Amino acid sequence: MQKTICLLPGDGIGPEILAQGVAVLKAVAQKFGHDFLFEEALIGGAAVDAVDDPLPAATVEACRRADAVFLAAVGGPRWDGLAPEKRPEKGLLRIRKELGLFANLRPALLLPELAGACLLRADVAARGLDLIVVRELTGDVYFGEPRGVEMRNGLRVGYNTMIYNEEEVRRIARVAFETARQRRKKVCSVEKSNVLECSRLWKEVVLEVHKDYADVELSHMYVDNAAMQLVRDPSQFDVILTGNIFGDILSDEASVITGSLGMLPSASMGASGPGLFEPIHGSAPDIAGQDKANPLATILSAAMLLRLGLHMGPEADAVENAVRQTLRDGYRTGDIMEPGKTLLGCAAMGQKVVERL
Ligand code: IPM
Ligand code: MG
Repeated sequence: MQKTICLLPGDGIGPEILAQGVAVLKAVAQKFGHDFLFEEALIGGAAVDAVDDPLPAATVEACRRADAVFLAAVGGPRWDGLAPEKRPEKGLLRIRKELGLFANLRPALLLPELAGACLLRADVAARGLDLIVVRELTGDVYFGEPRGVEMRNGLRVGYNTMIYNEEEVRRIARVAFETARQRRKKVCSVEKSNVLECSRLWKEVVLEVHKDYADVELSHMYVDNAAMQLVRDPSQFDVILTGNIFGDILSDEASVITGSLGMLPSASMGASGPGLFEPIHGSAPDIAGQDKANPLATILSAAMLLRLGLHMGPEADAVENAVRQTLRDGYRTGDIMEPGKTLLGCAAMGQKVVERL
């Protein structure tokens, strides 16, 4: 099958990890007889440097033309001083909005091969950790108006607006229930309805949508409690359904307790059009260009791209199995290194996965 994939390398370690993701996709194309066309475009700090805009119009067009978008990472201290509109992160927020990517799927999984890297007490880890955060991605305080910093009565005031309409809640709730149906059939909706009106509406709408999904068990949790339960006993969670800002925070928490932030992929999907696939970690400017980064989150994002973006299930399975086999064979990058294992750089790690495909 012929498919076009738009590549957005971005900043920091972005180009080197994406190169490994692409190497894996090329190996998949060869093995399964597909024809993948790659088109590269600018985003983030790299785009600011080149054309003074973190998301040039040409990039949006290239993404729209593609069957899937494969992004590495954006941002870095070099651009921290820029105005909000010029910051690399703005490029990422804008592409999510432009492509209507309202559903962000972030699986956090404790691989048996990496159990030693898990930050949890052994008896807690032994109960397992296999959850997915379904985060709303185009609403909430991230995009709500009004927003700004201004003078009021001689004082500087900063403000943002937490806002959701019922349709925004409904469509992400459906994604969560549908996702749960393919897993252990449990959804925990996370909000702060003891304090926030926005969360009260969220909970009400989630309860309404649940009527169509009686086979899925629904529970509700305040976000502070959810943050605590994630470390106390993550095995209780299957699908966590939540808004943009709570999902941002909880998905970092869920991923880092697995001990392998460098391992976790994500998918951002809209109602139609191409999805965007990216590792959940950042651009790690401190190790950029040193061939030290862990490419596995990017490679696993390629697997999500194959499964969810191109509907190629067996191809996705093959990539995930190759990653597991590489770990079983004892290969590690610095971030997940353990005594007795073989330390590899970014490119060599990608090569090991390709060999196992
Ligand atoms: C993420 C990141 C982004 C977000 C930043 C880079 C804008 O933290 O994808 O989780 O807050 O959504
Ligand atoms: Mg984040």
